[in-house]
Amino acid sequence: MPGIVIVGTQWGDEGKGKIVDFLSEKADCVVRYGGGANAGHTVVVEGKTYKFHIVPSGAVYGRKLYIGNGLVLDPEVLLQEIEALNKNGLAPDLHISDRAHIVFDFHKIIDGLEEKFKGRLSAGTTRRGIGPTYSDKVARFGIRVADLLDEDALRRKLDILLELKQRIITRVYDAKESLDKEEILRRYLQFGQRISDSVCDVSLEINSALDNGQTVIFEGAQGTLLDIDHGVYPYGTSSNPTAGGACTGVGVGPTKITKVIGVTKAYTSRVGTGPVPTELKGEIGERIREKGGEYGTTTGRPRRCGWFDVVPVTYSIRVNDISELALTKLDVLSGIDPIRLCLHYKSEDEIIREIPADLKIYEKCRPVYEELEGWSSSVEWSKVAQEGYDALPQHAKAYVERIQELVRVPIKIISVGPQRKDTIVTED
Ligand code: GDP
Ligand code: IMO
Ligand code: MG
Repeated sequence: MPGIVIVGTQWGDEGKGKIVDFLSEKADCVVRYGGGANAGHTVVVEGKTYKFHIVPSGAVYGRKLYIGNGLVLDPEVLLQEIEALNKNGLAPDLHISDRAHIVFDFHKIIDGLEEKFKGRLSAGTTRRGIGPTYSDKVARFGIRVADLLDEDALRRKLDILLELKQRIITRVYDAKESLDKEEILRRYLQFGQRISDSVCDVSLEINSALDNGQTVIFEGAQGTLLDIDHGVYPYGTSSNPTAGGACTGVGVGPTKITKVIGVTKAYTSRVGTGPVPTELKGEIGERIREKGGEYGTTTGRPRRCGWFDVVPVTYSIRVNDISELALTKLDVLSGIDPIRLCLHYKSEDEIIREIPADLKIYEKCRPVYEELEGWSSSVEWSKVAQEGYDALPQHAKAYVERIQELVRVPIKIISVGPQRKDTIVTED
């Protein structure tokens, strides 16, 4: 009954989609457990690029796919995504939790209004309505997938919710949008009809798959440092991307999780606001961004890039109980010499090895670096991937081994290109 959680160890976009696809070869089911259309997971196979926002990345291998109760589901985005995948030759075998909460258009409007209002506390959200939908869920105003299949229930809930939202839009934010209840009801009932055949009790299905000895991948979205509890609050998302979220976001007990694999980029990237101690604002940061194609998969925003930082990764290893890592985008650092690694931080002469809860302290943290020799920019990475670990340039190997030594967890997968085949599995 292997239940394998794949979790981002930094600020998202670590290459989770690529690793989930790679591991899906040996899986039966892939289930998303949190977030929503804020996620953008990329899979590249035989020159074809697939972008996933809500649909799990096991789609290219044709696995059974599930959307857990922990997601906030924008049905319009989902239907558009399925259509795009169909055009790209995929017919995802998708099953949707009846308990997932629905993102309405007004959630996206309010996301924008809240961001503007928050000023320097804004997280630079994806404006996908994520925060406002999770807020409604926790405040028990939420509308779930099951409600889209029941006109009476939906009407009753919208009666209350729309009145509240209209007051917030008009009276709190002084904005002009007006919400038309009948139109919203019609639109979302229609979405409900279109997804109704896929709606099920995902917890029941995943538990039974695990009990029957199947392999289930729990696909994390975002990253540990964006977690609502364990991330750099308030500059993160509104859900629990951490491994614990896999249990609550699908409905399985913690003992069903057999392994947690962390996905780590060979450097740091961040889209959105908040402190990133190793951020490179000059030429090297720009070079990494261009070479690594560091532009948001969902929003197209340029990602802030910086050196690899041991502090968030060791922190993630602890809060997720990660037993192995997949290191991605090693190829992107080619031609940069020297390469720096942040060992820990210093704040007013104090050495800091953990992520501080106090933002004022985190903002003052200065990275303490170690320098390593770089390697040539003319490496043929697909050839290296074919030949395996020993074919890595000597200094790239030293870099990987130094990271492994510092974080004290084995790196079992090394990704050296966006394609599925550009992947090295290290020997045990
Ligand atoms: P996710 O959100 O964690 O799934 O990551 P994204 O898909 O948003 O961003 C990762 C980007 O890096 C995508 O464009 C991938 O195709 C690409 N990528 C993944 N692994 C590698 C790698 O090892 N090398 C390079 N050059 N690109 C990679
Ligand atoms: P994947 O799954 C990177 C960031 C946003 C913003 C903050 C809150 O592709 O790794 P939200 O829209 O969730 O309210 O935004 O979180 N963010 C991500 N950054 N990758 C993601 O997902 C992200 N999802 C949200 O930029 O700072
Ligand atoms: Mg992404």
